[in-house]
Amino acid sequence: MSEQSATTEQLFWLTGNFAPIYEEFTDTQLKVTGSIPPELNGRYFRNGSNPPSGETAHWFLGSGMIHGVELANGQANWYRNRYVQTPLLADDAADPMDSLDDRTRSLANTHIIGHAGKILALEEGHWPFELSPTLETVGPYNYDGKLKGGMTAHPKICPETGELLFFYYSMTPPYMTYYRASADGELIQSEEIEVKGSTMVHDFNVTRNHIIFMDLPLVWNFENFTGGLPIQWSDDYGARLGVMPRDGTNKDVVWYDIDPCYVYHPMNAYEDGDDIIIDVCRLAHSMKAGVADVPPVLHRWVIHQAQGTVSEQQLDDRSVDFPRVPDSRIGLPYRYGYTAQFGDGPTASSFVKYDMQTGGSTTHELKNGRAGGEPVFVPAAGAIAEDDGYLLTYVYDPADNLSELIIMEASNMEQEPVARIHLPTRVPAGFHGSWIADPD
Ligand SMILES: [Fe+2]
Repeated sequence: MSEQSATTEQLFWLTGNFAPIYEEFTDTQLKVTGSIPPELNGRYFRNGSNPPSGETAHWFLGSGMIHGVELANGQANWYRNRYVQTPLLADDAADPMDSLDDRTRSLANTHIIGHAGKILALEEGHWPFELSPTLETVGPYNYDGKLKGGMTAHPKICPETGELLFFYYSMTPPYMTYYRASADGELIQSEEIEVKGSTMVHDFNVTRNHIIFMDLPLVWNFENFTGGLPIQWSDDYGARLGVMPRDGTNKDVVWYDIDPCYVYHPMNAYEDGDDIIIDVCRLAHSMKAGVADVPPVLHRWVIHQAQGTVSEQQLDDRSVDFPRVPDSRIGLPYRYGYTAQFGDGPTASSFVKYDMQTGGSTTHELKNGRAGGEPVFVPAAGAIAEDDGYLLTYVYDPADNLSELIIMEASNMEQEPVARIHLPTRVPAGFHGSWIADPD
C-alpha cells in the first residue's frame, strides 16, 4: 500500500460523504417522492461528527451536528441541521482530548434521545446537552446537579418502567458509575462499579431485571499519544460481562469471563429463565485506535447464571453494525433486529432485518453507490405485529451529492421506500438517532 492510500484510508472521515458540511439549513418546502404515513407525527433526529474546521484527528472527535425532519399528518414540515452549541464548539483551537474534566465541554456528537420531555444530545465523556424541538441548544443538563459524571451515548429507556438507565466511564477512578433516572426525569441512583482499569465502554445492556456491563480490552493509553484517539487493544486486560440487578450496587455484580473481543453496539438483551441472552455486533480483536480493520459480525452470548458460564455463537457472517430494535422491545424478548450492512470500507450499502426466531433475514439493498446509516424503527398506529412499522434513515446519493430521509415498511423492507423526503443538502455519514414522537 502506498503512503498516499494509507493516509487516505486512515482519514476516511474527511472524505466523500464522511466529510463535514458547513451550512445550517432550514427548509420548509421539502419535495417528497411517495407518501409519508400520516400516523408519523414527530421528529426524526440524527447526530454525527461534523468538524467546523473541516479537519479532525479521528472520526469520533468532530463537533456534533443534528439533522432533523419534522413529520405531521403525512407532510414533511421541515428539515433543519444545527450544531449543538457547546463551549467546545466555540473554542476552535481546543483539542477535545484536553477537555475531559469540564463536563460542559462536550462534542455532543454521538446520539440524541428524548426522555422525560427533554431532548438530549449525547456523547460519552460529558453531560448531555438539552435541545429544543427545533434544535436550538438550551444548555448542558445534569439533573439539578446530581449527575457528577457524564452520560454514555447509549442510555436505555426501559419500555416497561420508563426509567432511563445509563452509566459513565472515566479515564480516572472511579472508572465506572451506574445511574438510573426515573420516568419523570429524576436521578434516583448513582453507584460506583469496580473495574480493573480505564477502558472504552461505548454501550451496555439492560434486561427486565438486570444491567450487563461490558468490560472489554480497549484501553485508554496516553503514553506516546500524538493525537487522535488514545485507545488501544490490550492483550492483558481480558474481557468480562458484569451482571447486576437494575437497582443493585457494586457488591451485587457477578462477572463472567468471555473470549476477548470488542463490541461497540449490542442489538438487544433479554432474560430467558436464568439465562441472559445478548446479541451483539462483535469485533475480533484486530483494531487500530478503536477503528476495526475487520468488520463487526452478529454474535449471541448466553450467560448461564446457574452454571456461571457464557456461551458464544456467531449468528451471521455479514458485516453489520448500528443495530436497532423497536424501542418497545428494549431489554425484552424480541423477534426482529435491524442493522446497516457494510460493503468495502465504512460505508453502509444495505440494511438487514434479522428474524431472530427463524434465523432468516431480509435485505434492502441501496444501489448505485447510495449509502445509508442506522435504521430507526417507528411503530405503525395500532401495531400488533412486532414489525408493523417503519424504518427511518438518511440515505446519501452520490449522483446529485444530496441526501434523503427514507421511510421503509419494516414488514416489507426489501421493497422500495414508501416515502423519500428530498433534503437540500447531503447529510454526512453519522452515528445515532431517534424518532421522538409528539406527545399523545
Ligand atoms: Fe454508538
